[in-house]
Amino acid sequence: MLKLVRRVATRLARDNALHGRVDALEERPQHAALVEQLSARVAEVERRLEERDRAAALAARVKELEEAVFWRGALFYKAFEVAGLWGDYVEFGVYSGATMSNAWWCAKRHLDLFASGAWDHSLAGDRDATKRAIADSFRRMRFIGFDSFEGIPPAAPGENAGPFAAGTYAAAEEVPRGHLARTGVDMGQVHFVKGFFNETCTPQTAAALGLREIAVLHIDSDLYSSALTALDFCTPFLRDGSVVIFDEWFQFNGSPVEGEQRAFAEWRERNPDWNAQELAREATSRMGFVLNRRRPADRATGDGAGGAGNPSAAG
Ligand SMILES: C[S@@+](CC[C@H](N)C(=O)[O-])C[C@H]1O[C@@H](n2cnc3c(N)ncnc32)[C@H](O)[C@@H]1O
Repeated sequence: MLKLVRRVATRLARDNALHGRVDALEERPQHAALVEQLSARVAEVERRLEERDRAAALAARVKELEEAVFWRGALFYKAFEVAGLWGDYVEFGVYSGATMSNAWWCAKRHLDLFASGAWDHSLAGDRDATKRAIADSFRRMRFIGFDSFEGIPPAAPGENAGPFAAGTYAAAEEVPRGHLARTGVDMGQVHFVKGFFNETCTPQTAAALGLREIAVLHIDSDLYSSALTALDFCTPFLRDGSVVIFDEWFQFNGSPVEGEQRAFAEWRERNPDWNAQELAREATSRMGFVLNRRRPADRATGDGAGGAGNPSAAG
């Protein structure tokens, strides 16, 4: 009896073992296929993640380059690179506040590049002290805007006003104030002088403002007469490296005897001590010049130039 039980047990054990092997044989191909599929899927996901990371890194680099190209190309940015942040930004023709906001951000960008140490190589002596001086200078910098806030005045007798009819671009002071605040400009640096230039451009206004040096002068008031009044008013506050930007340089079909070109030509005739070098053009009609006082030796050779060694103009 015992023998019989042992034989049945042995047989059952062998059957179980056989079944196990059959199961394993049946399952193994399925597992293998599954594992193969899953591995392929994991590899695919990994490849896509790597691609996504590479694409994100590339997109970030493109954005960085685009930004650099944008800033490098912007005339107001170039103006602050050359003039530095010593003195004020003075604008004639504020209207929407768009160009003043742009100017503030260009000056801020110039400051931020210094703070980041991007131009450390160009700073002589005590670098930290120079950086602090530039930051202080920006804090003290004012963005002063002259405008009637009632639009363009009637042209002077005999002046060709072209498309600029009296009253064009009328916008209350709140309009540019709102724009400047919305675009993040430090409103503590912004000052407006309301009125027509022939009434506001006086020594009294200069004294009340405490006008000192002008780093960048922006003339965006369309008419010859407005531009000339602005230039005459600002002359005592110009310095070596001041930049003057004209917004409508090529108005009147680019004629040199109309509009801002006429005003600048007359101003230069009256101020032979100042040399003007073209800095850059922007868009269709914006033009910038760097001003430098002629020294006696320059007058003899007809050559201008000579800067005051502004450390923030390097780079
Ligand atoms: C083309 S808009 C200025 C655009 C402005 N820079 C902007 O970003 O929107 C011309 C401005 O110059 C002002 N303007 C022109 N001649 C003026 C004058 N003689 N006195 C006062 N404002 C004048 C007008 O009131 C007008 O707001």
